[in-house]
Amino acid sequence: MTDRSTDDVPSPRAALSSRTDLGTKDAVCPEHGEFGSKGFRLEAWKREIWLQCPQCQQAAEREQRDEERRRQADRLARERQEAIGQTCIPLRFQDRTFESFHAADEVQLRALTVVRDFTEGFVAYASKGSGLILSGKPGTGKTHLASAAMLALMGSGRWVQYVTCMGMIRMVRETWSRNSERTEREVLRLLGSEIDLLVIDEVGVQYGTEGEQNIVFDVLDRRYAEVRPSILITNQDAQGLKSSLGERTFDRLRQTHALVKFDWPSYRRTARKETEA
Ligand SMILES: Nc1ncnc2c1ncn2[C@@H]1O[C@H](COP(=O)(O)OP(=O)(O)OP(=O)(O)O)[C@@H](O)[C@H]1O
Ligand SMILES: [Mg+2]
Ligand SMILES: [Zn+2]
Repeated sequence: MTDRSTDDVPSPRAALSSRTDLGTKDAVCPEHGEFGSKGFRLEAWKREIWLQCPQCQQAAEREQRDEERRRQADRLARERQEAIGQTCIPLRFQDRTFESFHAADEVQLRALTVVRDFTEGFVAYASKGSGLILSGKPGTGKTHLASAAMLALMGSGRWVQYVTCMGMIRMVRETWSRNSERTEREVLRLLGSEIDLLVIDEVGVQYGTEGEQNIVFDVLDRRYAEVRPSILITNQDAQGLKSSLGERTFDRLRQTHALVKFDWPSYRRTARKETEA
């Protein structure tokens, strides 16, 4: 092997190590006025170099650092957006936070506090498989708060996933087709044990047929057995949920999941008034 440093063009390090100081000479920067320009000769390259105005140099370095920071921030934002996409949180809810949930009274404040406490204490709740059932009228902020919880938990390296109950049933049913890429076992393992927090929205919108109940049972029973928390969202009350999920599923849920009632008028009306005003 030949030693490249003995070739005509020396390596940058070799060039810099053999430089001769040429002192300082007066120079004028068009922007910053007079300054002392330092010079040196790179013997290996047989070149003289006179440094530019220190203020210009600082500005250039600052610009480079800012650019680097901007690129870094862009990259992080892109990565977060990608991660949010993977959670399947509906677009409308991808920016929802606990801070943007306005609690109009004590009851709403309690609901907000329960979901926020669950999120902040997730490690402890998850270790017991404790989750939440958000139950109540349309437009009361159930999906909003569940999304806020998911978005807050995403950053901590947890696998959080949003599904509608019908979507979940469809996912399992699709595996029954001959040309399905995934087996039912795989999907059930994914939904039942691999996802750290599963948010199941619109529970009870499905017909509650025996076939549907069985699929929901398979998922929730597995999560129960594997001590995995979920957040279920429904327009139904406890009684309605019991009849649409079936008693076996409901029983397991009630043991490990706290029911939070969302029993106030729809916020969608408030939001409309605000935009009309
Ligand atoms: N207390 C609140 N403060 C601020 N925004 C709210 C509040 N409650 C609801 N919203 C907003 O109102 C809209 C409706 O709320 P959301 O969709 O979360 O209701 P929901 O309870 O899931 O209703 P549904 O049962 O019909 O699905 C959303 O845009 C949500 O961000
Ligand atoms: Mg909703
Ligand atoms: Zn300058």
